[in-house]
Amino acid sequence: MSQNEGKRRSGDQAAEYVTPGSIVGVGTGSTVAFFIEALARRKHDIAGAVSSSEQSTRLLEQHGIPVFDLNSSGPLALYVDGADECDPHNRLIKGGGGALTREKIIAEASKQFVCIIDASKQVPILGRFPLPVEVIPMARSLVARELVARGGQPIWREGVVTDNGNWILDVHNLRITDPVALENDINQITGVVTVGLFARRAADLVIVDGVLRPNA
Ligand code: A5P
Repeated sequence: MSQNEGKRRSGDQAAEYVTPGSIVGVGTGSTVAFFIEALARRKHDIAGAVSSSEQSTRLLEQHGIPVFDLNSSGPLALYVDGADECDPHNRLIKGGGGALTREKIIAEASKQFVCIIDASKQVPILGRFPLPVEVIPMARSLVARELVARGGQPIWREGVVTDNGNWILDVHNLRITDPVALENDINQITGVVTVGLFARRAADLVIVDGVLRPNA
């Protein structure tokens, strides 16, 4: 199966988890684009969506799906999003598309987080994919030095400004054996907005190539 077909099947399958009449949390990326298409096919069934990025907001609006602010929607029953890497315990690296902060906020505000991936995203240990860290621009060098002290090689994603007006460092060469500890640690560095490790709040369910993966 092609990677694209795997993403499409996962996006389609996630639509089965949507409760009629609800507001759905929507992530960002090419896999989520398939989920938005599936959502659009039953848009009269749902109240609308809370979006994790300007990119997803545009797609949702193109499909005529109402987009709500998280402050007015309140807690959500369901959040659907992709990932850059997923370990056997549903812990994730996210932020390849730069939307990690809003994604983490919606994941936190949602009762169920369904992660949709193709098989290539599954890894035994997180860290092959460079770990995105969103930083306040003036703290870029300060945070980079702190990340080097932790054994990583941060590379500035030059030219990219997040939806929140911040910058991204992609940290290479990390072998993440304790994702919760590293998430807590990097979150404490002054100037860090969000680290793209989703371990404290991991996914509840993972759909791989359209098939629900049994939880480890
Ligand atoms: C966006 O910031 C990311 O967290 C995406 O969820 C992740 O990069 C997956 O994207 P694709 O579905 O395009 O692979």
